[in-house]
Amino acid sequence: MTDTLYNFDNCPDRTGYGSLKWDKYKDKNILPLWVADMDFVSAPEIIAGLQKRLDHQIFGYTVPFEAPVQAVLDYLERAHGYPAKAHWLNFLPGLVPAINLCCHAFTELGDSVMTATPVYPPFLSAPDYAKRELIKVPLCLNPDDQWTLDFEAMEAAVKPSTKIFVLCSPHNPVGRVYTRDELLKVGEFCVRHDLILISDEIHCDLVFDTSKKHIVTSTLSEEIAARTVTLMAPSKTYNLPGLACAFSVIEDTKLRLQFQKSIRGIITEVNCFGYAGCEAAYNLGEPWRQQLLTYLRGNYELLYKFINEELSGITFRPMESTYLAWFDVKELGLENPIQFFEDNGVGLTDGGPFGGQQHVRLNFGCPRSRLIEGLEKMQTALENR
Ligand SMILES: Cc1ncc(COP(=O)(O)O)c(C=O)c1O
Repeated sequence: MTDTLYNFDNCPDRTGYGSLKWDKYKDKNILPLWVADMDFVSAPEIIAGLQKRLDHQIFGYTVPFEAPVQAVLDYLERAHGYPAKAHWLNFLPGLVPAINLCCHAFTELGDSVMTATPVYPPFLSAPDYAKRELIKVPLCLNPDDQWTLDFEAMEAAVKPSTKIFVLCSPHNPVGRVYTRDELLKVGEFCVRHDLILISDEIHCDLVFDTSKKHIVTSTLSEEIAARTVTLMAPSKTYNLPGLACAFSVIEDTKLRLQFQKSIRGIITEVNCFGYAGCEAAYNLGEPWRQQLLTYLRGNYELLYKFINEELSGITFRPMESTYLAWFDVKELGLENPIQFFEDNGVGLTDGGPFGGQQHVRLNFGCPRSRLIEGLEKMQTALENR
C-alpha cells in the first residue's frame, strides 16, 4: 500500500446535489469552509459497497441486520478495544436526534443538563428544546496551554436538578483528545452526582496527532459504563453524513429501554444505503482513513503555520483531532467576523452558537489548494481592511 492510493487533492463540483455546505453560497463567490462535511470523495471501498446494495434493486424497509451490526462490533473491538454486545446497539439516522432524545428520555421538567463550552451547538439547543435548564461550563486551559474541562467550575455549577452531562470526546470545536485521567475525572464526577454521561464520540477516528489515542469512555470502568450512553457514527470520519447512519451503545438495560421507548414512533429507521455505507466503512475503510489522517495532518500543519506566522490577531491553539479549527478573532476587532470573511470570499462557521463569541471555525477537510486559497483570501482581506 502506498501513501497515494487515494486522491484527496481533487473534489468534483458539488453544486446541483443539494449540498448544505455549497448551496449556502450558491452563485456567490464565497469559498465554503464551514459545516463539518469534507470536500473529499468517499473511499472506493464504500462506493463499491453502496453499488452492491444498489445492484440488489430492492429498497424495502430495512431493520438492523447481521452484516452492519457485526461490522460495528468488530470495529469497536479492533479500533477501540471495546467488546460491545449486539443488543447494546441502536442504529439511528443521526446523533443530533439522539442527543435531543436523551434529554427527553433521561430528564423531567425542572431538571438540568450540563455541558462544557464552546461545543457543537445541538448540545446547547437540545435541553432548551426539551424545556430543561442548560448549565454551561466553559472549558479552561491546562498548564500546557491545552483546552480541558474545568472540573472545579463543574463542581460549583452542578445542582441537585442536574441529571445529564454531555461530553464531546474528542471535543468539537477545539480538537482536544481527552486523556484517560481527564475522562476518569468526568466519569467520577458523573458517578458522584448521579448523572447520566452522554459521550458523543463521533470524532473518535479523526485523531491525527500520532502521540494521542482516543479512549472510549465506557471502557474506563464498569461503574462509568453503567451510566454512559455512547454516541458514534461513521459519518464524520468517512464523509458520509448524507447517508444518515449513526448508532448508540448503551450497556445498562434500564437506560437502554428508556432510550428505546423515547425513540418509538418518532425516529425513522436507518435507510438501506446507510447500513451498506456503515458496513463497508468499518470493514474496509481503514486504509482510506489512514491516508485521510495523513492528509489532514498536512493540512493542519500548513494551517497552523499560516495562521500563527502570517495572520496576526487570530489565536489558534494546537489541536489533536478533527478537521475543525477554532480561531479566537477578538484581537482583530471586527464587529461581525463572519460577515467580514464572507464579504471577502470565505465562508466560516460562526462561533456564537457554540458559546464562543468572537470566534470562528474553519473546516480544513478539503483539498490543500482550496485551503490555501481560503487562507490567502483571509490574509488579503485582513491586510486591506
Ligand atoms: C459532536 C458532534 N455530534 C454530532 C454531529 C452530527 O451528528 P449527525 O449528523 O449524526 O446528526 C456532529 C457534526 O458535526 C458533531 O460534531
